Amino acid sequence: MSQGSGFADPAGTWNQRFGAEGYLFGTEPNEWLREHAGVWRAGQHVLCVADGEGRNSVWLAQRGLQVDAFDIAEVGVAKARRLAAEQGATVNFQVAGCDGFDWPEAHYDGVAAIFVQFADPALRERLFARMQRCLKPGGVLLLQGYTPKQLEYRTGGPPLLSHLYTESMLREAFAALDIVELRAYEADVAEGSGHCGRSALIGLVARRR
Ligand SMILES: C[S@@+](CC[C@H](N)C(=O)[O-])C[C@H]1O[C@@H](n2cnc3c(N)ncnc32)[C@H](O)[C@@H]1O
Repeated sequence: MSQGSGFADPAGTWNQRFGAEGYLFGTEPNEWLREHAGVWRAGQHVLCVADGEGRNSVWLAQRGLQVDAFDIAEVGVAKARRLAAEQGATVNFQVAGCDGFDWPEAHYDGVAAIFVQFADPALRERLFARMQRCLKPGGVLLLQGYTPKQLEYRTGGPPLLSHLYTESMLREAFAALDIVELRAYEADVAEGSGHCGRSALIGLVARRR
C-alpha cells in the first residue's frame, strides 16, 4: 500500500484507509522505535507524531512512559484508543493535524516520528522545527522514514522523491540537535499490509542541546 495519493485531503484519505478491517501497519511497534526506545526512561513524557492506529504509542505507554499522541485521521485515533483499551495502556490521544496540534515549547523528553512522510518540503520544514522546539534540552527525537531508493521497492511510503529523506537532508534539518545515530539501511519490513517487503529505510536518533 502506498500513501502516494490523497495529500489534498489527508484526513479523508487516511480515514478511508484506516476504515478497513484490521490494523494497516499492524499492532507491533516499528522496529527502529523498538530498538532505540531505551533512550527514554519509564515516567518520561513522549509525543508520538501522526501516530495512526496507535501501535507505537500503545507500546511506549506499556513500557511505563507518559505518552501523548496525535493524528489527523479520527478513524485511526478511534482504533488507537481501542488498541490502548484492549492492552490496558493509557495514552493521551488527540485528533489533530500537525499544523493544528498545540505544540508546547521545551515540554517533552522524547518525540517519536515514525513514517511521517506525508509532509511535502514546506510542511516538513514546519513539522521538523516544531518537533525540535517541543523537546526539553536533553530530550531525544527518534525518527524513521524511507530514502529515495524506496521508489524502486514501492513496499510502503509515498512515491514522491520530494517527501523522502537522505542522510544529508536530515543532518541539515536537525543541525541544531546532537546526532546520536543516523543510518540509511535496507531491511525486510513486515508492518501489516501497509509496510511490507524489502525496504530502503533511514533512522535518526538525535538529542536536543
Ligand atoms: C504512514 S502512516 C504512519 C502512522 C504511524 N506513525 C505508524 O508508524 O504506524 C502516516 C500517518 O500520518 C497521518 N497524517 C497524514 N497527514 C497528516 C497531517 N497533516 N497531520 C497529522 N497526521 C497526518 C495519517 O493519518 C497516518 O496515520
